[in-house]
Amino acid sequence: MTDKTSYRGPARVFSGIQPTGNLHLGNYLGALKKFVDLQEGGWDGLYCVVDLHAITQPYEVSDLPEQTRQIAAAMLASGLSPEKSTIFVQSSVPAHVELAWIFNCVARMGWVEKMTQFKDKGGENSERVSLGLLAYPVLQAADILAYRATHVPVGEDQKQHLELSRNIASRFNQQFDAPGFFPEPEALIKGPGARIMSLKDGTKKMSKSDPSDLSRINLIDDADTIARKIKKAKTDLLGDMPVDVAGLEGRPEVENLVSIFGALSGQTAEQVLDEFGGKGFGAFKPALADVAVAHLAPITEAMRRYMADPGEIDRLLAAGANKAQAASEPVMKEVRKILGFWHAG
Ligand code: AMP
Ligand code: TRP
Repeated sequence: MTDKTSYRGPARVFSGIQPTGNLHLGNYLGALKKFVDLQEGGWDGLYCVVDLHAITQPYEVSDLPEQTRQIAAAMLASGLSPEKSTIFVQSSVPAHVELAWIFNCVARMGWVEKMTQFKDKGGENSERVSLGLLAYPVLQAADILAYRATHVPVGEDQKQHLELSRNIASRFNQQFDAPGFFPEPEALIKGPGARIMSLKDGTKKMSKSDPSDLSRINLIDDADTIARKIKKAKTDLLGDMPVDVAGLEGRPEVENLVSIFGALSGQTAEQVLDEFGGKGFGAFKPALADVAVAHLAPITEAMRRYMADPGEIDRLLAAGANKAQAASEPVMKEVRKILGFWHAG
């Protein structure tokens, strides 16, 4: 849509990753790899370690600084460049919190109560979880819109949150008679890595919070661990690898391994099955382990190098925060004016 009410500013990418637990292959294929591809495609992008999101649920205070640096290290190790992109920590730029509060007054209760991730995380106990957990996707909208970002690379699980961001942007523009002020940010989800599943259960997504470490490949796993986890990955009793994509139907574990192979090697599922269809898992799994190790080992290695020099990470993050602060402030100045705050006029 390009009528006069739609946003006309420049295209810009924003995405965030929480500093909770170990990063895994799902985070890499669903998020980090896409960030790097967009950067290399020349997109202006901000990539944020979202620590304010991480405190919406119980966490270990003493682990947070290290976890925060670890996400930054993973971003850098995956290929994000502090020169080409803006890499920073959410809590170091005040606009996120300020705009989140404003959006709390724009979003409707009914919108946030519907969020499936809130229902999943809140579980039976939704009366007792923090108010922050309910407001979580509102803060996410603020992250994106404080920079008037137009595109948001994320995994499939974030689709509904992005829909909420669009609703908040559109309602803000209408409510305050500011047509086209905020863009309605578009989720960039497509691609073979959008939903990587657990290695132990092809119907559950690979997750930081799965109690079984065998369910995921962590970015800090060494080559032997990766090979062992792939060897132990669940398959099924339906025989060898199917000869074509139709044969993946009803075989979620096998389908997942094929999409991991494809995402890492830049091939479609058809191409993977052209090579491995009809072969046994005894042939496919070691090949998959080789591809995974070849792709991840340099990243793991670079991550370790960054983690060994926390001072350098901190320096890069401080420079990133300055860039992000400078990008958000003009937007916030206008927002304060639009809202009628007395000091902003
Ligand atoms: P989080 O760790 O929840 O902050 O997620 C960081 C990013 O990784 C988000 O863009 C998620 O959508 C993405 N992500 C998380 N798990 C997976 C998965 N199993 N498959 C694909 N993407 C994922
Ligand atoms: N909610 C996202 C996740 O769990 C993380 C996140 C926070 C995010 N703010 C964001 C992602 C802004 C994209 C844009 O993965």
